[in-house]
Amino acid sequence: MAEVTTDIHAEARNLCAANPIIPVVVIDDPAHAVEAGKALLAGGIACAELTFRTAAAAEVIKEMVAVEGLTVGAGTVVNVEQARRALDAGATFLVSPGFSAAVAQFASDESIPYMPGTVTASEITAALDYGFETLKFFPAVASGGLPVVKALSAPFPQVKFVATGGIGTKNIAEWITNPAIASVGGSWMISRDDVANQRWDQITKLSTEAVALVEKARK
Ligand code: 3PG
Repeated sequence: MAEVTTDIHAEARNLCAANPIIPVVVIDDPAHAVEAGKALLAGGIACAELTFRTAAAAEVIKEMVAVEGLTVGAGTVVNVEQARRALDAGATFLVSPGFSAAVAQFASDESIPYMPGTVTASEITAALDYGFETLKFFPAVASGGLPVVKALSAPFPQVKFVATGGIGTKNIAEWITNPAIASVGGSWMISRDDVANQRWDQITKLSTEAVALVEKARK
């Protein structure tokens, strides 16, 4: 019988094609996970990067994967131990702020899509060594913004970026319409504070607004 292999690189591309906005989410209390996920979905956002910036991250992922229609990944994954906990909790993709060879190897071995953070030619080259072509560009604005993306796209035309860090309602249109940008991310539509205070309507409102801005920009 032929071996069934999963193309995690195609999965990453498809994930971004289906989700032009991937929110970067920080949740302290797992009891808020389901409502937070539903609030994003209600605003038209069907994917979330749950960050390992709180002790509860794995537990939050475990709760949030129960939200039907929502794709849940793990963010701020900086070591293999977190990657393992994310995978065990049900995360279906991994994101790092920087490039980790150890996490890249783990993701390849476990067949889970991985988007490492890259802002230099050397970091992109390191990611390409593992076959990863859909990469996080973080911190997007502080690293020089779209001029840097354009410059890096010349030697690396196969790379598409998920840009995060400094993106919001004012600049989302210019980022999402750049051909090298697969998706944009950020925390503006789902702040840690809004989650902690259970402002679900506010999260839905900001998500709806973000989706509308992307649709308008892409017309
Ligand atoms: C990230 O990890 O991508 C950033 O923390 C998100 O950046 P923002 O808070 O500027 O949106």
